[in-house]
Amino acid sequence: MSFNEYQLSVCDVQLTGLVARLVLKCEQPAGLFFKEGQYLNLVLPGGHMRAYSFASPYRADGIFELHVRLHEGGVFSEILKKNLKQNDVLVASGPFGNCVWHPPAHEDAPILMLATGTGIAPLKALLEAELPRCKASIWLYWGGRVAADIYLRNHFELLAHRYAHFNFVPVLSRDGGDARAAFGYVQDEAARQHADLSRAHVYACGSPRMIEIARTLLTGSRFLSSENFHADAFEASWERSQFAHVPPQNEAMELWVTAEGSRERRVLPSGQSLMLALSTAGLMHGVCGGRQSCGTCRVVFQEEEFHELTPPSRSEQRLLKTLNNAGPYDRLACQLPVNGQLSGADIILPDNPVSRMKQQMA
Ligand SMILES: Cc1cc2nc3c(=O)[nH]c(=O)nc-3n(C[C@H](O)[C@H](O)[C@H](O)COP(=O)(O)OP(=O)(O)OC[C@H]3O[C@@H](n4cnc5c(N)ncnc54)[C@H](O)[C@@H]3O)c2cc1C
Ligand code: FES
Repeated sequence: MSFNEYQLSVCDVQLTGLVARLVLKCEQPAGLFFKEGQYLNLVLPGGHMRAYSFASPYRADGIFELHVRLHEGGVFSEILKKNLKQNDVLVASGPFGNCVWHPPAHEDAPILMLATGTGIAPLKALLEAELPRCKASIWLYWGGRVAADIYLRNHFELLAHRYAHFNFVPVLSRDGGDARAAFGYVQDEAARQHADLSRAHVYACGSPRMIEIARTLLTGSRFLSSENFHADAFEASWERSQFAHVPPQNEAMELWVTAEGSRERRVLPSGQSLMLALSTAGLMHGVCGGRQSCGTCRVVFQEEEFHELTPPSRSEQRLLKTLNNAGPYDRLACQLPVNGQLSGADIILPDNPVSRMKQQMA
C-alpha cells in the first residue's frame, strides 16, 4: 500500500435525499490506482480530513464515484450542499484500507456482504469488479430504516436478475410492510439465512455498531473465522472521535522525533496515544483515527528501543506488513500509549504527505 496526494476534478454532483453521489476524475497522468474496497482521504479547507470509500471499480481513465451521507452541520456535508460544483478541484490522499477482495478458497462457500447506509459504496465497487468473475454465491444485505434509504435498489435488483449467483436482500428496520424487503437488521437477516459460515467470507461496511454486532454474532454462532471477516467502519472523523477527548495526563514524556529531515526534542503529554500526541503537535495525521486501517501513523524506532515496547497485536502486524517501505522496527503510533516505555526514545516519522498537506492547508 502506498499513498500520495492527488488533485480530483468534480465531474458531477447528484443530491438524492440524504446522499450525495459525486463523480470525480483524477487529473494526474499517473492516476490514482486503488483496489475496490479501499478509501481515500479528502483534505478540506482548514486542514479537516474526511475519509470516503470508492463506490465504483478502478478505471484507467481516472474516473470514479463516491457516495456521501449528508450530516447536518458536517464540514464536508455543508461544502457539498452549498458550494461544490462541476470542475471544482478537491485534494485527496490515499488509497487506504484493507477491506479488499479476498479470493474465496471454496467456490461452494458463500460470500456475504453487509452494508448500512452509504456503507454500500465499497461493496458496490467490489461487486461490480468481482461479480462477473466470481463463481461463489454472493449475498448482499443492505440495511436502512425505510425504503428511501436503499437508494440504489433498482441497480442491485438488476444485477441479481443478470447474475444467477448474486442475491440481493434489502433490510428495513422501521418498515415491516415492504413485501420485497426483509424487516429487521442486516446481521440478523444474514445469520437467519446462513447457519454455517465456517468457510465463508463476510464483508461489512458502514455503521461501526452494526460491524461489531455482526462480527460477534457471525463468528460466535455461525462459525465464521475471524480472519474472514473484513470490515470498514465509517467512524466519524478522528477529530470528533473518542481519541480527541482523552484528556492528557499531567506527566510528560521526553523523546526525540525526526520529521521531514529535522531531529528535535519533544515533550509529549502521557496518557494519550502517540498518534494523538504527535497530531496535536502538528507532526502527523492518523487518517483512520487509530482503527488500524490506514498506516499513516507509522513510526520507526531504534532497534534496541523497539524491543522494549509492548509487542504489536496481530492486527497491527498485519497492517504493517501491507505498508510500502515498512521496516523491521516500525510501529503504528496509534497503538502505542505515551508512557514510560517511550521515555527518551528516538523515533523517525517517515516522510508523511498527509502531515505536510495538513500543515499547508491549515
Ligand atoms: C474508512 C472510512 C470510510 C468512510 N467512507 C464513507 C463513505 O463512503 N461515505 C460516507 O458517507 N461516509 C464515509 N465515512 C465517514 C466520513 O469520513 C465522515 O465522517 C462523514 O461523511 C461526516 O463528515 P462531515 O464532514 O460531513 O461531518 P463532520 O464534520 O465530521 O460531523 C458533523 C456532525 O455529524 C456527526 N457525524 C459525523 N459522522 C457521523 C456518522 N458516521 N454517523 C453519525 N453521525 C455522524 C458528527 O457527530 C457531527 O455532529 C467513512 C469513514 C471512514 C473512517
Ligand atoms: S491512525 Fe490509521 S493505522 Fe494508525
